[in-house]
Amino acid sequence: MKGLAGKTALITGASSGIGQAIAIRLAQEGCNIVINYRKSPEGAEATEEQAMRQACGQVEGCGVQSLLVQGDVSQEEDIVRMVNATVDKFGHLDILINNAGVQTERASHEVSSDEFDRVIAVNLRGAYLCARETIKHLLQQQRSGVIINISSVHEIIPRPMYISYSISKGGMGNLTKTLALEYANRGIRVNGIAPGATITPINQAWTEDPEQKATVESHIPMGRAGTSEEMAAAVAFLASDEAAYITGQTLFIDGGLTLYADFREAWSA
Ligand code: NAI
Repeated sequence: MKGLAGKTALITGASSGIGQAIAIRLAQEGCNIVINYRKSPEGAEATEEQAMRQACGQVEGCGVQSLLVQGDVSQEEDIVRMVNATVDKFGHLDILINNAGVQTERASHEVSSDEFDRVIAVNLRGAYLCARETIKHLLQQQRSGVIINISSVHEIIPRPMYISYSISKGGMGNLTKTLALEYANRGIRVNGIAPGATITPINQAWTEDPEQKATVESHIPMGRAGTSEEMAAAVAFLASDEAAYITGQTLFIDGGLTLYADFREAWSA
């Protein structure tokens, strides 16, 4: 896609699922990729290996490079270190993908303040701080850049039993819009994608059980869950110059989940 070759992209939580697919796709598009992982490097190494294999099959000369950076996005000093490490190696950071995310399931009246804070600290505060450090860098170097937030259909659909997750993704919608508006005249675009049910490790509880998977998919108008690669394709588009005039938007990629599926058949006159 236009304008991606030679750019540097930092992807948080890129050792599995959607983040891994985004890293691989951006490498295929000719981006240098910075693969953030939180704990053990195995998943990140797998991302790197696949990304390089696929990129080198498709990019002439294979100038694509990668960097693995450990860091917990709930820790401010880790984020500063990650952005500095990126700039030290590549000289610049052009694209930030705020993908790292966690969720916990519990009745809202039983969630402890610690549990609540932990989810918000990763999904929302972490995304903001990564964006802040990236924007500082872009302004300093007077470069244009792109930030993409990986939100969720729960940016707009309330999700009982997942109060902190719902709030974090709802907040992410306004994070996208506020930053987009604030930096629109300085060449920084900020957008989001909102995946519906996607087959990744976060959903292991139902993806590996055929009966539960069928139940989940019965709620989706298109009749199936999405794939990480489908999410990554939209991210590549939004990060590219093909989307040069798009900012402040969240693109819902959900097989129709946000279309009020109950209205598939008429139930009221
Ligand atoms: P996943 O569990 O495979 O990926 C989440 C990644 O975030 C993991 O690699 C994990 O190590 C990393 N992570 C967690 N805490 C971190 C921290 N403190 N610092 C750095 N990295 C951290 O699951 P998936 O599905 O790939 O999730 C990616 C994003 O997509 C999340 O933000 C999630 O909320 C969002 N999403 C996923 C959907 C799905 O159905 N799979 C639907 C809607 C949104």
